[in-house]
Amino acid sequence: MQNTSDLIVILGTGGTIAGTAVDASDNVGYSAAQLGVAQLVAAIPMLAARRLETEQVAQLDSKDMDFATWQRLAERVATHLARPEVAGIVITHGTDTLEETAYFLQRVLAPSKPVVITAAMRPATALLSDGPQNLLDATVVALQSFVGGVLVVLGGAIIDAQQVRKVHSYRLNAFAPAEGGHVGVVEEGQVRWLSRPLLPLLPLIPLMPLMPAFGLARIARSVDAWPRVEILFNHVGCDGAVVRALLAQGVDGLVVAGTGNGSLSSGLEAALRQAQAQGVMILRSTRCDAGPVSASETALPSAGALSPVKARVEMLLTLLGSSD
Ligand code: SIN
Repeated sequence: MQNTSDLIVILGTGGTIAGTAVDASDNVGYSAAQLGVAQLVAAIPMLAARRLETEQVAQLDSKDMDFATWQRLAERVATHLARPEVAGIVITHGTDTLEETAYFLQRVLAPSKPVVITAAMRPATALLSDGPQNLLDATVVALQSFVGGVLVVLGGAIIDAQQVRKVHSYRLNAFAPAEGGHVGVVEEGQVRWLSRPLLPLLPLIPLMPLMPAFGLARIARSVDAWPRVEILFNHVGCDGAVVRALLAQGVDGLVVAGTGNGSLSSGLEAALRQAQAQGVMILRSTRCDAGPVSASETALPSAGALSPVKARVEMLLTLLGSSD
């Protein structure tokens, strides 16, 4: 008799993993989001014996990921996770904004079953296409995971949604945890868990004892009514003119990627304080690849150890929540 909860649902959203090029040696001149998720699965013989369902939620290059697709994706993930027969979800995605989607889904759903996002750095037609192995590995992780939460699987590495960052524009192992280590690795169809807190074989524990789920209902409003949150940088010669331009246009929140430990040029800080005085929410992150921004009573609010793009997700949710 079949295990009652061994079904994996694979949701397709596009990306290079579903991309095709005219020439197999062309790793960059391809079109993303050309193949359906069912075609990606059908190309992997090892998945033929698995209990799988596929659903095409979107078909886009993830540089164009948008709030409406996030809403739909979160709703489809939640719907499938609520089915008792579903052990976990796999999502195929583009690599470019994968870390934002991973963090968004973790914060909105805080799933108690595994939601595994995978992608590829080479199109499906490439000589060395990494998509099929990544999709197979992601399916293995969704089946073997005893932890809930959003995980990212690429190049045999498992990284959690909080830590994951795209750190390289071209190479196959383009993702790394910002700090700390990998959650685990996938080797020949077996998951080897590395993260110390995960070693006791507890049944589905939440991977990130972070914050409770923000909740689907609170992101359900029309995306036209979502807050406008922009990201800007401190840099040499930064005078805050961008902040003033955004204020003139209308903006609800600003995440600033400061230098080092979130430092800001005098001109940028003055402009941000002016924006804050006008009711714009401000968070200070860092343009460094990793590390926290220290909080201080005298400085603008810190985003902690969140990267600018994840701080932006956090701010979007805070602003959505405050206007409930
Ligand atoms: C995308 O992000 O959709 C295109 C690039 C990629 O998947 O590597």
